[in-house]
Amino acid sequence: MRHFLTLKDYSKDEILEIIDLAVTIKKETKANIFKKYMPNKTLGMIFEKSSTRTRVSFETGIYQLGGVGLFLSSNDIQLGRGEPISDTSRVISRMVDMIMIRNDSQKELEEFASYSKVPVINGLTDKFHPVQLMADYLTILECNKTENLKVAYVGDGNNMTHSWLMLAAKIGFDLSIATPIGYEVDSEILATALAFAKESGANITVSNDPEVAVVDATVVTTDTWVSMGQEEQKEKRVKDFNGYIVDAHLMSLAQKDAIFLHCLPAYRGYEVSEEIFESHSEIIFSEAENRLHAQKAIMVWLDQRRDS
Ligand code: CP
Ligand code: NVA
Repeated sequence: MRHFLTLKDYSKDEILEIIDLAVTIKKETKANIFKKYMPNKTLGMIFEKSSTRTRVSFETGIYQLGGVGLFLSSNDIQLGRGEPISDTSRVISRMVDMIMIRNDSQKELEEFASYSKVPVINGLTDKFHPVQLMADYLTILECNKTENLKVAYVGDGNNMTHSWLMLAAKIGFDLSIATPIGYEVDSEILATALAFAKESGANITVSNDPEVAVVDATVVTTDTWVSMGQEEQKEKRVKDFNGYIVDAHLMSLAQKDAIFLHCLPAYRGYEVSEEIFESHSEIIFSEAENRLHAQKAIMVWLDQRRDS
């Protein structure tokens, strides 16, 4: 049995196998073919934080696969009142076939998974957002950008940045990250990614200079400056991130046909200008839609390993 907690646990071949499956499942879905890959299976979905895309894509996804999704807000289950993670995991995993969790602690997610009898999927933690990156890579593939891929990430060194680090390190593409001073990526995660990069050939650089990071990029990406749970830091962050907006000037330093990705929700006028967001919106919303296809593939892949 496998969990999907971070791309650190996945080989390049496994990531590409899931992406291939996502391509197949997307084609089928677009042709109105809804194969029941997971008949009568239940996906428990525990949310300790807000969500639009993750909730809708997982719930729709499991339904299209022939199963059913259970939305479990932490405010409504006993976990929110202090029932231990270990007990919650041992109870829920006896009743459902797969569990997706969005919480504020990768450590707690891993603890939950260690007690679970069924596969656990990371729906975003403080450290990683791996399901988003599977959708992002599917989008890059559909845009024919996987060859000589150079991704530039400009913004906060957060769960998205860490996930880009892991994807680049595993797949072997170039990634340059620019964060403001004081908002750098987690040094342990960076060290792990650099170790994987040695094997895969990924060229990973980190700096505090967005203009250097985007030079020659074929994909430019960013994320909110104020992640969930950081709302009270907004004023300080907005000041500290001055100069980190992805606007026409920054995009002009990337390759001419570079695409812009954003995991959403996007805050125009902060991490991205209205102009850049709207001129790339077709791809950004395909990226959002790809959450559905990529996560269906993740669920099917995990379910197949559980049954075998
Ligand atoms: N990108 C993403 O995970 O969106 P939600 O927070 O809406 O799920
Ligand atoms: N870094 C953001 C991602 C939202 C999908 C957050 O954690 O809120």
